Amino acid sequence: MKLSMASGSLLLFTWFAVMGFLQAVTLEVRERNSTCIKAELSAVFSITYNTSSSPRTVQVPLPNTTTVDLASSSCGSVAGTPALVATFGSGHALGLSFSTNGSLYSMAALMLQYNLSDSSIFAEANSSAVVTVTSASPGIWAAINTTYHCVSATSVILGDQTVTFSDMRLEAYMPGNGLSSDETICAADQAHTTTTTPTTTARTPTTASPAPTTPGPPERGIYSISNSNGTVCLLAQMGLQLNVSYVSQSQNKTVQEYFNLTPNLTNSSGSCEDNSATLVLAQGRTTTLSLIFTLNSTANKYHLSGINVLANWSDMTAPFSAENTSLDYLRTTLGRSYMCNTEQTLAVVPSFSLNTFKLRVQAFGVTTNQFATAEECQMDQDEMLIPIIVGAALAGLVLVVLIAYLIGRKRSHAGYQTI
Ligand SMILES: *[C@@H]1O[C@H](CO)[C@@H](O)[C@H](O)[C@H]1NC(C)=O
Ligand SMILES: *[C@@H]1O[C@H](CO)[C@@H](O)[C@H](O)[C@H]1NC(C)=O
Ligand SMILES: *[C@@H]1O[C@H](CO)[C@@H](O)[C@H](O)[C@H]1NC(C)=O
Ligand SMILES: *[C@@H]1O[C@H](CO)[C@@H](O)[C@H](O)[C@H]1NC(C)=O
Ligand SMILES: *[C@@H]1O[C@H](CO)[C@@H](O)[C@H](O)[C@H]1NC(C)=O
Ligand SMILES: *[C@@H]1O[C@H](CO)[C@@H](O)[C@H](O)[C@H]1NC(C)=O
Ligand SMILES: *[C@@H]1O[C@H](CO)[C@@H](O)[C@H](O)[C@H]1NC(C)=O
Ligand SMILES: *[C@@H]1O[C@H](CO)[C@@H](O)[C@H](O)[C@H]1NC(C)=O
Ligand SMILES: *[C@@H]1O[C@H](CO)[C@@H](O)[C@H](O)[C@H]1NC(C)=O
Ligand SMILES: *[C@@H]1O[C@H](CO)[C@@H](O)[C@H](O)[C@H]1NC(C)=O
Ligand SMILES: *[C@@H]1O[C@H](CO)[C@@H](O)[C@H](O)[C@H]1NC(C)=O
Ligand SMILES: *[C@@H]1O[C@H](CO)[C@@H](O)[C@H](O)[C@H]1NC(C)=O
Repeated sequence: MKLSMASGSLLLFTWFAVMGFLQAVTLEVRERNSTCIKAELSAVFSITYNTSSSPRTVQVPLPNTTTVDLASSSCGSVAGTPALVATFGSGHALGLSFSTNGSLYSMAALMLQYNLSDSSIFAEANSSAVVTVTSASPGIWAAINTTYHCVSATSVILGDQTVTFSDMRLEAYMPGNGLSSDETICAADQAHTTTTTPTTTARTPTTASPAPTTPGPPERGIYSISNSNGTVCLLAQMGLQLNVSYVSQSQNKTVQEYFNLTPNLTNSSGSCEDNSATLVLAQGRTTTLSLIFTLNSTANKYHLSGINVLANWSDMTAPFSAENTSLDYLRTTLGRSYMCNTEQTLAVVPSFSLNTFKLRVQAFGVTTNQFATAEECQMDQDEMLIPIIVGAALAGLVLVVLIAYLIGRKRSHAGYQTI
């Protein structure tokens, strides 16, 4: 509660409405008469830019008016690698390039270009630059002659920006003109299909009652991120509960819903850089949560600075997305871990907050794959005081009873003597 009140003023600056519908887009690169890259996907970009007063984040869906830029795209037969460059709006673009070793092919790089002059998207931007951000090897790969198929949301982080794909079918180095019928299913979907129940049952159903029942505390998940070396650089153990308000399709009004992340249905990914670390948790195709940690090396402290959520649940009128990148939670000294067993509410935007349970996190300075000494949250320290106070009160009571007994005994003894 303390935390959510402290951040109340920040919320005024960082409240973003859901932007439009996610639209399916089909993109194709052909050379002469044969297709070499084909993609059917939905994507949304989360872009942070500066206004004269403060940074602002917008969610930009890839529109269905996107077209392939034939001049920049190529099958790679003449020179270089196959690449698909798609443009949309005024001067925005998404680029995918591929590489192969003969048995597997993978996305070698992902590029996002956006034009800050476009005031219909980047209102009040204090720059008019065209910005390009890239991510090398975003971890999307498939066996050659198969289609990469991933229904689950997949987030790729490009510096401060995030690209989230969903419902993606993609193939490069295509043997024919259509997507191969053999598929490589992404890990997130495999986790999803190995369960006997669909993910939608993992969340509480919306009821007609305006006040939803809390689904009970979430199960605690254990997540870790390794850098390119294979060295663990981020460790987290926590139970997470999303608290989302959205417009229900069936009820035609705003409803509130709790969603517990189920650890063994959750796919974790992320990255560690010198001053920032990101943990992306995706449950099935419908729910993706990103936690961004920032290190202040002057102060030797790190904290949870950003939370981003993307949810596409069946009863929503539009996919829900929210982000706040100016948060200040879980502040800890570098070389320590942060621990809070008590439930904490992390307010993100008015329509979304995250409840944490039995949390322990270390985002920087992880050595030997283990948590360092913990700094415990104030609420845990308060909780620990309760047994001490109760114990002291009980001891006091025993003492009072004992004294009363002794006094009583002395009085009755004295009384007997006078008779
Ligand atoms: C492409 O296909 C069309 C008809 O499908 C054919 O007329 C044309 O000659 C082909 N072009 C090349 C370069 O193969
Ligand atoms: C916003 O401005 C600050 C200060 O000039 C700069 O460090 C930061 O990179 C800018 N952010 C973006 C998203 O351009
Ligand atoms: C844009 O605003 C940020 C603060 O939000 C400031 O640091 C930056 O210098 C400004 N950039 C330009 C080009 O005015
Ligand atoms: C794009 O989406 C809009 C609204 O969702 C729809 O009306 C339009 O027909 C779509 N256009 C194409 C080319 O699919
Ligand atoms: C960027 O957007 C502005 C305004 O919409 C437009 O005039 C300009 O041509 C765009 N830049 C590019 C490179 O497309
Ligand atoms: C291609 O790369 C994968 C994974 O790195 C490896 O298992 C496979 O043997 C490689 N294939 C060839 C032909 O080098
Ligand atoms: C992929 O398909 C092409 C055309 O059907 C074939 O020539 C090639 O050997 C196949 N490659 C693999 C690794 O199966
Ligand atoms: C997930 O965990 C629950 C409870 O721990 C267990 O009952 C279930 O079988 C697990 N599912 C999978 C797919 O591992
Ligand atoms: C790889 O590991 C070594 C030592 O374990 C470390 O010094 C180096 O920074 C690591 N490289 C990366 C990219 O993290
Ligand atoms: C969920 O969020 C609503 C506001 O949107 C708030 O009133 C409610 O107390 C929150 N519930 C929990 C358990 O955090
Ligand atoms: C939803 O509710 C609004 C008023 O709250 C009403 O105008 C609209 O017609 C309703 N739509 C449906 C589909 O019931
Ligand atoms: C880092 O911490 C120092 C000292 O507390 C503070 O002055 C500085 O503004 C912080 N830097 C950032 C980027 O927050």
